[in-house]
Amino acid sequence: MRELTNTAVIDWLKALAQVYTEKKDYLTDLDRAIGDADHGVNMARGFAAVAEKVAPLTDQDIGAIFKTAAMTLISTVGGASGPLYGTFFLQAAAGASGKTALTVTETGAVLEAGLKGVVARGKAAVGDKTMIDALTPAVSAYQAAAGDGSLSAALDKARQAARAGAEATVPLVAKKGRASYLGERSAGHPDPGAESTALLFDALWRVAAK
Ligand SMILES: Nc1ncnc2c1ncn2[C@@H]1O[C@H](COP(=O)(O)OP(=O)(O)OP(=O)(O)O)[C@@H](O)[C@H]1O
Ligand SMILES: [Mg+2]
Repeated sequence: MRELTNTAVIDWLKALAQVYTEKKDYLTDLDRAIGDADHGVNMARGFAAVAEKVAPLTDQDIGAIFKTAAMTLISTVGGASGPLYGTFFLQAAAGASGKTALTVTETGAVLEAGLKGVVARGKAAVGDKTMIDALTPAVSAYQAAAGDGSLSAALDKARQAARAGAEATVPLVAKKGRASYLGERSAGHPDPGAESTALLFDALWRVAAK
């Protein structure tokens, strides 16, 4: 796939509903260790609603699809992650407005805007043990590989970087979110949001690699 089409974006969001349903207990168990045991439930509920809302939007531009996903996440997910992922898609929507397909470069700009939105909203930096620890290296890896012109190759690098970033959260002490209340006791566990971000990039790569 050379361009990310609107129907591929819908397929990605539908795939996420399935992935987060399958990983619901796993993500919730991660959040049980350093949070309040609701991350899997939040993600599964949020993306099930997103999949339902975006499924009929096959003739819409990607901006409209992302905006629908954003609004749905913000309104259906109570926890911190709903507004944060909602912001990701809302900021991503701006660069995708009016476009039914995104080039490799445009996809990079959209991912970058999404990342910036999450940072602006959550004020987390790399190393704070949040989803930013997966999102930041994923976007950087994508951008570094995008010049070669292959969407799936750049997304493959992105998903690998997100996975490595999520794994690297294990020894960290949380500085943001609920896990930060635990202080030093948050070390020794992966961050649930970094893990859900790794799954998000995995699913995007799979859709693009088809
Ligand atoms: N300020 C932040 N910036 C970026 N990510 C954050 C921030 N705060 C929390 N997170 C991410 O959100 C994840 C937790 O999401 P979850 O769905 O469990 O919401 P929650 O923290 O339980 O929300 P609440 O405390 O409002 O109930 C964390 O693992 C972390 O990755
Ligand atoms: Mg939680």
